[in-house]
Amino acid sequence: MFKISIPQKNLVLNAEANKNLMDLLIENKLPVASSCLGEGICSKCAMQITPEGQPNDLEKRTMEKNKCEPHHRLCCQIFISSDLTVRASYW
Ligand code: FES
Repeated sequence: MFKISIPQKNLVLNAEANKNLMDLLIENKLPVASSCLGEGICSKCAMQITPEGQPNDLEKRTMEKNKCEPHHRLCCQIFISSDLTVRASYW
């Protein structure tokens, strides 16, 4: 079990290993911007994730193409494998 901290909401969520981060956020009533429903192509779900970890190839391509902010990740492409701190610009 991992801890997912959401400082803007003063919230800490518990997450099983390999749980998708976007699914976890939505299940906990936190809004996640998306127009591709988690397919990794719109980049609207980009959030600041600490520690950053390694993006997959699709995520790298999408973030480069859409000129995403540095130090952000696509939450739909993250399968939780450590404690994380998550911040979204619209929370
Ligand atoms: S929801 Fe579209 S890239 Fe994540």
